[in-house]
Amino acid sequence: MLYRDSVSKAQKLYYDMILESGFPIKGLKPEDLEVVDFGLSQGELDYFKRVGLGIYVLVNEAECGKILCFLPNQYMPEHRHQSVVVMPKGSKIMKGYIDLKKLVKDFKGLKEFGEEAVYMVPEKENTPIPKKGILIPGKQEYFHTIKGTGSMFVPGKPTDKPTYPIPEEHCPHTTALHEVFLEPGVGFHLAANTPHSVVAGPEGLIVIEFSLKSRDPLDIFTNPKIDRITHIKERSKMT
Ligand SMILES: [Fe+2]
Repeated sequence: MLYRDSVSKAQKLYYDMILESGFPIKGLKPEDLEVVDFGLSQGELDYFKRVGLGIYVLVNEAECGKILCFLPNQYMPEHRHQSVVVMPKGSKIMKGYIDLKKLVKDFKGLKEFGEEAVYMVPEKENTPIPKKGILIPGKQEYFHTIKGTGSMFVPGKPTDKPTYPIPEEHCPHTTALHEVFLEPGVGFHLAANTPHSVVAGPEGLIVIEFSLKSRDPLDIFTNPKIDRITHIKERSKMT
């Protein structure tokens, strides 16, 4: 949860970073930036500055383009974008599938299908899609760094001494420990359903991300306490 004034302060920080990077977005305003605290903040910006993310959505149709902004040393927790099968209301979770509600905290459904539809995640690749099911394919992502540096962690041989290590308190919720170094002008492709996390370097990090359509509520975080939706609260007035 973040207080509304904390969100405004964070938006201004990300806005200044984008301006400074020189990446052109005509008419950009601080309030256009999405601020993500992963449900871990206590209202103020102190924890958010260590764990959080700023997003500007360029397009989100069948194709998606986003600018991802990280403050200096800011961490984005490990998550993956797995395929989901949407079934009509009242359907039972089928064999070979897991109820998405068991994997995503406070999952409230997607606007396009509603909260009462049934959302199932296949346990294995190539699980047959039931007749009445609608497949939402797992999101592939391509990251191209514009400014700053960072460490992205993906499956593979764990890196002994990563450039920017994962904050210790998040290590128990991290499975992918192979470092990919992010630097300007270099891109990296992530297959769907690949766990990934990012730690920004000391100057912060700006990445342009291309992917299939983004449906944030479907993101599966390794830490079950994480809530992808940022809750914004008014400060109670002192009398
Ligand atoms: Fe992602």
